[in-house]
Amino acid sequence: MMLRHLLLLGTALGVTYAQTLLEALSKVPELSNFTTFYQNNEAFAAAYFGNESSYPITFLAPSNDAFTTYHAQHQVSLFDVGPDVLLQLLQYHTLVSNMNQDNFTSVGTKGITAPTMLKDSPANNRTTGASLGAKFGGAERARGQVVFIQSAGQASSPTRFKLMSRQSSDPQNAGIRSGLASTVNLQTLDANQGTWDGGSFHIVDGLLTLPTTCARTIRSAGLASLDNAFNRTRLWSALDGSKNVTCLGPSNAAFQAAGNPDTVLNATALTGALLYHTLPEVAYSDFLVDGQVFKSLQNGTVRVRVEESEGERTIWFNNAKVINANVLTHNGLVHVLDAIMVPLEQLNSTNTTASGTPSSRPSSTVTNTASPTAASSNAAAPLAKALRFDGALWTFGASLLALL
Ligand SMILES: *[C@@H]1O[C@H](CO)[C@@H](O)[C@H](O)[C@H]1NC(C)=O
Ligand SMILES: *[C@@H]1O[C@H](CO)[C@@H](O)[C@H](O)[C@H]1NC(C)=O
Ligand SMILES: *[C@@H]1O[C@H](CO)[C@@H](O)[C@H](O)[C@H]1NC(C)=O
Ligand SMILES: *[C@@H]1O[C@H](CO)[C@@H](O)[C@H](O)[C@H]1NC(C)=O
Ligand SMILES: *[C@@H]1O[C@H](CO)[C@@H](O)[C@H](O)[C@H]1NC(C)=O
Ligand SMILES: *[C@@H]1O[C@H](CO)[C@@H](O)[C@H](O)[C@H]1NC(C)=O
Ligand SMILES: *[C@@H]1O[C@H](CO)[C@@H](O)[C@H](O)[C@H]1NC(C)=O
Ligand SMILES: *[C@@H]1O[C@H](CO)[C@@H](O)[C@H](O)[C@H]1NC(C)=O
Ligand SMILES: *[C@@H]1O[C@H](CO)[C@@H](O)[C@H](O)[C@H]1NC(C)=O
Ligand SMILES: *[C@@H]1O[C@H](CO)[C@@H](O)[C@H](O)[C@H]1NC(C)=O
Repeated sequence: MMLRHLLLLGTALGVTYAQTLLEALSKVPELSNFTTFYQNNEAFAAAYFGNESSYPITFLAPSNDAFTTYHAQHQVSLFDVGPDVLLQLLQYHTLVSNMNQDNFTSVGTKGITAPTMLKDSPANNRTTGASLGAKFGGAERARGQVVFIQSAGQASSPTRFKLMSRQSSDPQNAGIRSGLASTVNLQTLDANQGTWDGGSFHIVDGLLTLPTTCARTIRSAGLASLDNAFNRTRLWSALDGSKNVTCLGPSNAAFQAAGNPDTVLNATALTGALLYHTLPEVAYSDFLVDGQVFKSLQNGTVRVRVEESEGERTIWFNNAKVINANVLTHNGLVHVLDAIMVPLEQLNSTNTTASGTPSSRPSSTVTNTASPTAASSNAAAPLAKALRFDGALWTFGASLLALL
C-alpha cells in the first residue's frame, strides 16, 4: 500500500523510474513491431543500447507504419535486414544527446542539426565543425553523421518517405530530415512515456535514410540540370571524393530561367560556375547568420542573408533563395536554390535592375512570389547575362580545381 502510494506520488510529480529501452518501448502500441524486432535481435540490441559509455542518447524508434512503408519500398522486411545494415540503421537513429520533448518543440524556425552515433561509415565522410561540436559534447562525441530536425510547420516538400497522418501543425510533431532529401515525421513522447535508462526515445513514422553521394542525392532529388552540368564537366568524382562540401544547387527552373547554362556554356565556363556554387565547408542552415560570407571554391565571395518574419526563416545566398535546405549527403549537404547565383559584384552594380540585392530586403521579383519558378523567371535576364558574358568571373585556375 505504501509502495503503491509512493509510486502514484512519483508519477504525479513526473518522476520516472529506471527502465531499459525494451521495457519502455513495449508500453507503446505503435512500436510493437520495433519491440518484436528488438526481441528478435535481443543480444545485439541489448549490447548496443546497454552500452552506458554512449549515454545519454535519444533513440528515434520506427513506428509500425515505418515497418510497413519500408517493406513496400524495399521489397524486403526490416525483420530480414542483415547485421551490417542493422547496426548502421540503429546508429543513424540514435542522437548523441538526451533530447526531450521540450528540446524538439523549442527548435523554432531555425531547426537544429543533431549528430548521431553513425560515425565510421561511408555514409559519413565529413568532419565536425567547432560550433556543432560545442553544442553536442565535443568533436569526438559529435563526429557522427547528422540529421536535421525542423518544426512541423517547416517540414519541407518533396519527400521520399512522405507519409500520411501527422502533418498537423501540432507543435509536438516535427520533421526529421535524413539522406536523399527524405523527411519523416517525428512524434515526440513526454518524459513519462519517452524516458529510459539511456536517455529519451521518440517515434518516427518512416526509416531515416543514410546519406550518400552528392551524385545519387542530386539525381534522387530530381535536379536534372545540375546533374547534367556535373556530368558535362566530369566533376562528380572530385565532388563525391571530397570531405566537407556545401553544394548550392540551383533548381531545374533556375537553370531554365538562366538560359540552360548546363547545356549552353562551354565546359570551362560551366566548371567555373559550378565551383562558384560549391563551398569547401559544411554549412547547415541553423548555423547560418545574416551577413555571413563564404569563399567559394571558385574563389568568389558568397554572402548569406537570413530573414525572420511571421514565423518563417528565409535564407538567401547572394540573390538566390533557398527552397530546400539541408539535403544531406555523405560529405556535407546541398541547399537547393530558386536561382543561379549572381556574383556579389554584379548584384551591387545592378541595384536598380530587376535582380534582388542582398543588402536590402531582396526585391519582390526574387523573393515575394509564392512560386519559385515565377520568381526566378523575372530575374532571368541578368542571370543569363552574368553567366554567359562575363567570362572573367568564370575563369578558374587549375589549382582551384585541384582543391576539389
Ligand atoms: C507489426 O504491427 C502490425 C500492427 O500494425 C501487426 O499487425 C503485425 O503483426 C506486426 N508484425 C510483427 C512481425 O510483429
Ligand atoms: C560503447 O560506446 C562507446 C562510446 O560510444 C564506444 O567507444 C565503445 O566501443 C562501445 N562499446 C561497445 C562494446 O560497443
Ligand atoms: C535540451 O534541453 C535541456 C534543458 O531541458 C538543455 O540543457 C539541453 O542543452 C538541450 N539539448 C539540446 C541538444 O538542445
Ligand atoms: C572521403 O574523403 C576523402 C577525402 O578527404 C577521400 O579520399 C575518400 O575516398 C572519401 N571516402 C568515401 C567513402 O567517399
Ligand atoms: C572540414 O571542415 C571543418 C570545419 O569547417 C574543418 O575544421 C576541417 O579541417 C575540414 N576538413 C577538411 C578535410 O577539409
Ligand atoms: C548523368 O550521368 C549519369 C551516369 O552516366 C546518368 O545516369 C544520368 O542520367 C546523367 N544525367 C543527365 C541529366 O543526363
Ligand atoms: C582569391 O581572391 C582574393 C581576393 O579576394 C585574391 O587575393 C586571390 O589572389 C584569389 N586567389 C586566386 C587563386 O585567384
Ligand atoms: C556590395 O555591397 C555591400 C553593401 O551594400 C558591401 O558590404 C559589399 O562589400 C559589396 N560587395 C562588393 C563585392 O562590392
Ligand atoms: C546598392 O544598394 C544598397 C542599399 O540597398 C546601397 O547601400 C549600395 O550602395 C548600392 N550599391 C550600388 C553599387 O549602387
Ligand atoms: C568559354 O566561354 C567563356 C565565356 O563564355 C569564354 O570567355 C571562353 O573563351 C570560352 N572558352 C573556350 C575554350 O571556348
